[in-house]
Amino acid sequence: MIDKRKDDHIYLALSQFSQVGSALFEEVFLIHNALPEIDYSEVDTSAEFLGVKVSAPLGIGAMTGGTELAGRINAELAKAAEKFNIPMYVGSQRIALTKPEVKWTFEVVKQNAPSVPKVANLGAPQLSALPEEKLVEWVVEAVEMVNAHAVAIHLNPAQEVIQPEGEPNFRNILDKIRLVKRALGKPLIVKEVGSGISREVALRLASVADAIDVGGFGGTSFISIEGARAAKSGSEIHKRLSETFRNWGIPTAVSICEVRSVYGGFVVASGGVRSGLDGVKAMVLGADFFTMSQPLLKAALENRLEEEVKSIITEVKTAMFLLGVSRVSQLATVPRVYGFGLRSWIEQRGLTCGGRHFKV
Ligand SMILES: Cc1cc2nc3c(=O)[nH]c(=O)nc-3n(C[C@H](O)[C@H](O)[C@H](O)COP(=O)(O)O)c2cc1C
Repeated sequence: MIDKRKDDHIYLALSQFSQVGSALFEEVFLIHNALPEIDYSEVDTSAEFLGVKVSAPLGIGAMTGGTELAGRINAELAKAAEKFNIPMYVGSQRIALTKPEVKWTFEVVKQNAPSVPKVANLGAPQLSALPEEKLVEWVVEAVEMVNAHAVAIHLNPAQEVIQPEGEPNFRNILDKIRLVKRALGKPLIVKEVGSGISREVALRLASVADAIDVGGFGGTSFISIEGARAAKSGSEIHKRLSETFRNWGIPTAVSICEVRSVYGGFVVASGGVRSGLDGVKAMVLGADFFTMSQPLLKAALENRLEEEVKSIITEVKTAMFLLGVSRVSQLATVPRVYGFGLRSWIEQRGLTCGGRHFKV
């Protein structure tokens, strides 16, 4: 059952209906610098991912594992991560913790990407159900499975409540996340999966998370994907919920500002980042790094993953050149103009976008 769900997610994520709304990057206008005073070849896209130097501020987002198809995809994604020296997250490892025969579908990641930072992944609702000892055991095993540099815990209440077989129990999650952090001895990332993280949630996570990955609205929608699964399985109420809540969530551009307004840790932008230029805009808003999921999955399945990663990194470099910036860390302070929609979020929510010391 869970195996079928993993493959459903892959196939459904490829169709256009899985892509919903806007992350609002089109409302971030960057100011062209006609006198950059730098040589394009000097533009350095290298960045740090939780203390490790990598070639670009781009990561492969959390997606899959657990089936034959997922194993093959993970191997392809890992080869690209290694080739371009960028980090890679894996999808939820719960399936391999309960079915050891599919562990290989995650292990291929450490085998094919031995030298880049890898991120293990577990879901909050599953943690909620586990007793403390088992929880620590799972975390240790998940880390070992991919030789992880960090662990991501995903928060996905919208997905769980709309998924026909979902487990929408988020009781005591913050305490469970604290337990994971104590047992871990490695950086802990807390992420959403497409509905975003608010300032209020970021404040509650601030004392426990080394990184917040915003997983904002405007890209792949699990509300839409689970709705399609519900329609197939004849679950009318879940199908209806998916339609009603189709536009639910905090757009990624907004979520970056929400989190950055109150959080001094590492911020990862994800959800609807669709080019290196979107990624640069995310960093202008205050993110330290960005990840992409669906576009890289699609490219992997169409045998053009290397070209895609190369193009995204070239877009980052080009945007930096046109802004007159030679280091990624300088992006948070470049001049910008916000469109009305984004500006209204910023004003009504009292947000501060940009770097840790930057005031709008
Ligand atoms: C096929 C697929 C499977 C996913 N599975 C997981 C998962 O197991 N754990 C997780 O944290 N996020 C998962 N995600 C969510 C992504 O990490 C990301 O938050 C989301 O897709 C938004 O990014 P995008 O718009 O670039 O696709 C998955 C995404 C896709 C496309």
